[in-house]
Amino acid sequence: MASMKNLSGSDAAKKNAAEKACELVTDGMIVGLGTGSTVAHSIRLLGRWVKEEGLNIVGVPTSYSTEALAIECGIPLTSLAASPVLDIAIDGADQVDASLNAIKGGGAAHTREKIVASSAKQFVIVADDKKFSSILDRSVPTEVLPYAVKLVEREILKLGGTCTVRTGTGKDGPIITDNGNFVLDCAFGQIKEPALLGDKLSRIPGLVEHGIFTNAAMVYVGYENRVEVLRRK
Ligand code: 5RP
Repeated sequence: MASMKNLSGSDAAKKNAAEKACELVTDGMIVGLGTGSTVAHSIRLLGRWVKEEGLNIVGVPTSYSTEALAIECGIPLTSLAASPVLDIAIDGADQVDASLNAIKGGGAAHTREKIVASSAKQFVIVADDKKFSSILDRSVPTEVLPYAVKLVEREILKLGGTCTVRTGTGKDGPIITDNGNFVLDCAFGQIKEPALLGDKLSRIPGLVEHGIFTNAAMVYVGYENRVEVLRRK
């Protein structure tokens, strides 16, 4: 378990989940590297194993920030063009339920995260216990072509949602994703059928990708002093 030194309860829980999931990574694997503060713990540990124990892996990053972190940690990188099928992808989530459905995109990286997760033989989510919920009810991040924002807003309203263009801090205007698009955070209240809502969102022209993920094989839920592993039945 993570040392509690200098870690808040939530950070320790994140670290516990993220480091435990690294045990799934073995020599020769191509590993999808997610984005965010939880999976950053996995990336740091894998980097240590590469440097200190000669672990032989290559990573595929899901964002420029993860690419920079992986390089700093000494993980060799490849691309989906060179390595289209990954052995495993590890990533965080903003909310997850007992059926392993998740909402992602709090870091605006969900489009590349979904491409990487869908390219992997096994997609594993790492999250602290506060992310676990009996039902998904957080806003769903959607990546949207700036040209299509008004159309997407109207279509989200028709689906019973409300949406807000995500802005940075201060007066910087809309945040821009690694793909050059905007993020619309779409609130639907309780999401009883995540896969169905995801399908409907996918049909909106100009909506590049939504943050509902229904393909995790496992979720590692971290607590301050233990990790629970949920597996798809
Ligand atoms: C980025 C994501 C992140 O994985 C998600 O926001 C969780 O982040 P954190 O681990 O920092 O709580 O989906 O787009």
